[in-house]
Order: sequence, then C-alpha cells, then structure tokens
Amino acid sequence: MTVTGLEGIEVTQSAISSIIDGTLTYRGINIDDLATYSSYEEVIFLLWNGRLPIQKELEDLKLKLVQYGTLPDPITNLLKSLPHDVHPMDKLRTTLSALSLFDTHVKDMSREANYDKALKIQSKISTIVAAIQRISEGQEILLPKSEYNFSQNFLYMLKGKEPHQTAVESLDKALILHADHELNASTFSARVTVATLADIYAGIVSAIGTLSGPLHGGANEAVMKMLEEINDIENIEPYISEALFTNKKIMGFGHRVYKTGDPRAKHLKRMSEKLTILTGQRKLYDISTRIETIIKNKKGLLPNVDFYSASVYQSLGIKKELFTPIFAISRTSGWTAHILEQYDNNRLIRPRATYVGLLRTEYIPISQR
Ligand code: ACO
Repeated sequence: MTVTGLEGIEVTQSAISSIIDGTLTYRGINIDDLATYSSYEEVIFLLWNGRLPIQKELEDLKLKLVQYGTLPDPITNLLKSLPHDVHPMDKLRTTLSALSLFDTHVKDMSREANYDKALKIQSKISTIVAAIQRISEGQEILLPKSEYNFSQNFLYMLKGKEPHQTAVESLDKALILHADHELNASTFSARVTVATLADIYAGIVSAIGTLSGPLHGGANEAVMKMLEEINDIENIEPYISEALFTNKKIMGFGHRVYKTGDPRAKHLKRMSEKLTILTGQRKLYDISTRIETIIKNKKGLLPNVDFYSASVYQSLGIKKELFTPIFAISRTSGWTAHILEQYDNNRLIRPRATYVGLLRTEYIPISQR
C-alpha cells in the first residue's frame, strides 16, 4: 500500500526527540522546560550526548564553538564571489558543501571524528550565515569572541556591535525551540544521505536543501512576506478570503504531526508580543493574532513554529531572507545528532515505490518513431 508523503510511517528508531500526545521533548526533557531554563549550547550537548552537561563539559563545548568559528580563506573568497542576488539558503548550501573540501578529517568515520566535525559545522554555520549578510552589505566578516555565548556571537557577527541582552535571550530561546523535531523532512533527508555512509557534510548539505522549501523551513520567510503584503489590520480579511478561495496555503499554519497545536508556537507567540511592543512594531503582532483567529475559525488550523518566529526575527532587526538560514543554524544540532545516531546503528534507507506506469511497452527503434 502506498502512503503518500510517508504520513504516520515509522521508518527508524530514535532516542533524540519525541512527539507524544502533542508534547515535544529532547532526550525526554520537555521543550517548555528547555525553552524556559536552558541555553542553546546546553541543548546542543543534550542532543549529541543524551544528557545535560556538567559545568566543565559546557565550558569546553562553548570554547570549541568559538575556536572552530573561523573560516578557511578559500571559503571566505568563495562567499565573496557568490552572486549577490541569490538566496542566502542557496549560498549556505553551496558553502557547506565547499567547506567539506577543507576538512582533512572528512572521511574519518570514527565516532570521535564525526562528533568533532559536528562541532565544527555547528560553529562555522553561524559564522557563514552572518558572513553572507555582512558581505551583502559590503561589510567585513567578523569572527566569534570567546567572551560571548553562541547567540551573542551570532548577533555580534551579524551586526558588528554588542547585542542587547533581550535580543540575545530571545534568539537563544528561538534556537532552542528549533533545534530538533524528530523525523522532520530535512532530518530525514540527512539520515537517508548518511545511511549510504556518505560523510556528515553530505548529510548537512542534503538537510539544508530540504529545509529551504516553503512547506518546511522556508515557511518563516513566506510568513513575513505575507505580513508585509497585508500590512494593515483592515487588509487581513480580504487577503485571507482570497487566499482560501484560490486554495493557497496560509504559511505558518498546519502541521503533519500536530493536530492540536504546535507546542513551540506558544513560546514564540509570547516572544513576538514582547519584542514587537519593545521595538514599536506592535502592528505585526496584532496582524498575526488576527490571522491566527481567522484561520482557526475558517480552517481549524493552528500556527506552527514558523508563524510567530517571523515577527520575532523581524523585531530583532533581522532581514527576512535570513530567517530560514537561522533555522538551519539551530537545526544543525538536531541534524548532526541524528547523523551520529544513524552512523551508530546504520542500515541503508531504501523504500519502494508503487509502480503505476505502463507495462510491457514495446521498444520502437528511433527511425520508426
Ligand atoms: N493553509 C491552508 N490550508 C491548509 C494549510 C495551510 N497552511 N495546511 C493544510 N491545509 C489544508 C490542505 O489544503 C488540506 O486540505 P484538503 O484536505 O481540503 O485538501 C488539508 O489541510 C491537509 O493538508 P496537507 O497539505 O495535506 O497536510 P500535510 O500534512 O501534507 O502538510 C504542511 C503539512 C506542509 C505543514 C501544511 O500544513 C502546509 O503546507 N502548511 C503551510 C506551510 C508551512 O507553514 N510549513 C511549515 C511547517 S512546520 C516546519 O516544517 C518547520
């Protein structure tokens, strides 16, 4: 029997994150607790090691994330040579692929080497995303500082100045909330890729490509475009009616797994309210909540992680083209955790397709066609 989109099919065992009765956990810890009390670095450690770090382990991880944040010169040159008008996600995918060529341990498949490569990728992806933006503005590329945490460093490398504490805390929370999500499309593609025993970079490149689409990670940018198009409370009703009438998807709504609400969305909604008020952009939040009510009433659909993250990132002064690359920075911790888990207990992932094409078709020589 064909199950379109593999809906509901369990294709692997995983001990990384769970979605049970609408509750999301990383390694058994409720996402609500992690979003409230944890830090992104702690979550990286948790996803990779299956437990929370002790202080020394956390400090070591933080240090490595800073130390690995440099880029080889050819990568810097490549970034500068990429066409200006291509999307940052495409630049990111290309750069991650090129980065593998400068990692002398790329083909070392020992667990230690792969763990270390996960660290390098996690660190460098942040530098790369910030560099993509800086280059597009004609600014110099910045590297992480040892006195800053991961989120602080990303905002510093992006803006070139010490970030505000509220911005740092908000970004950190957003990174925690996006870090892993069971067998979502991009994580699945990463696992499919490395299940052939391709290297970890190949898995991340597959994942970035998969995340970029608007039905997955690309939805946060699409939400922002929608909010910009609507622009005013009085435009909401006609915009949504027209979209629904023409069977357009409303970005940031619906989910393959959650039918009673995405547990990450409430955190982002709260952050959106706080940050839009703080930055004088309350209208964005008001438009968003009105859309939420209409879509709930008309379609019974609830916001997913991407809906309120759009106004959160916008309030942090981040350009909408960077929303999905930031998602990629965060999800790198989950992708790499899944890649390590896949290598630990690998079997080639090779499903079947139900053939519905022609049967016993005669071959006609080209001269007779
Ligand atoms: N707007 C309007 N209608 C929708 C939406 C939406 N956002 N989402 C689902 N529906 C409708 C579909 O049209 C379909 O209706 P029908 O049965 O009358 O044809 C029904 O709900 C089921 O939707 P599917 O697309 O079949 O659900 P699926 O599980 O395949 O897709 C998905 C889930 C891709 C998330 C979908 O809800 C969607 O396209 N949402 C908008 C894009 C989005 O926000 N993606 C981010 C998801 S979260 C993440 O990846 C990080």
